[in-house]
Amino acid sequence: MNITTPTTLSAAQYDGLAELLIDVINAGGSVGFFAPLQKETALEYWRQVKAEMESGLVLFIAEMDGVLVGSVQLAPSPKANGQHRAEVRKLITHTDYRGKGIASRLMQAVEDHALACGKTLLVLDTHLGRPAEAIYQHLGWTRVGVIPDYAAGTDGSLHATVVFYKQLA
Ligand SMILES: CC(C)(COP(=O)(O)OP(=O)(O)OC[C@H]1O[C@@H](n2cnc3c(N)ncnc32)[C@H](O)[C@@H]1OP(=O)(O)O)[C@@H](O)C(=O)NCCC(=O)NCCS
Repeated sequence: MNITTPTTLSAAQYDGLAELLIDVINAGGSVGFFAPLQKETALEYWRQVKAEMESGLVLFIAEMDGVLVGSVQLAPSPKANGQHRAEVRKLITHTDYRGKGIASRLMQAVEDHALACGKTLLVLDTHLGRPAEAIYQHLGWTRVGVIPDYAAGTDGSLHATVVFYKQLA
């Protein structure tokens, strides 16, 4: 597996990212979209991510044998008093490649990159009760608490969100 932080995205990478997001959403993943996710909606999302990359967002992609199998984003705080912290967003692994340590490797890459950039505090939130909640705890993140009715799931019903943080130094 190869993990990279591209600064530009090729047509093949846009396509791979769109297919990855569609797979995750259509399998019930709760990362901001309703199912079924259309290809154009997915592509437009990644074009927005690319625009945010111009202002500091870091995109991590995991590729295996030329297939884009996972992704995560690191969004540094834009606030003057938050230069030491960043938010981890949209950790996703393709359903055909789960349970192989891809998310672990992506999260380690995020931590390494964050520390190298002087970030000492990471935050994230995730759907209460989904596998990611246990995975973040397994990866050493501290569970802060639960916000009820935070976001709509892929079926439109509201669900609670769990907030986590990890201090890197
Ligand atoms: C959450 C998700 C990214 C995990 O991807 P994955 O590549 O299958 O995860 P990994 O195989 O790397 O497993 C991560 C680690 O958690 C561990 N783990 C897996 N399931 C676990 C569980 N239920 N409880 C505790 N630890 C668990 C694994 O053993 C691994 O640790 P290790 O590397 O020390 O062995 C994937 O299920 C996904 O895309 N879900 C939908 C989107 C989503 O909910 N993303 C989170 C948004 S915040």
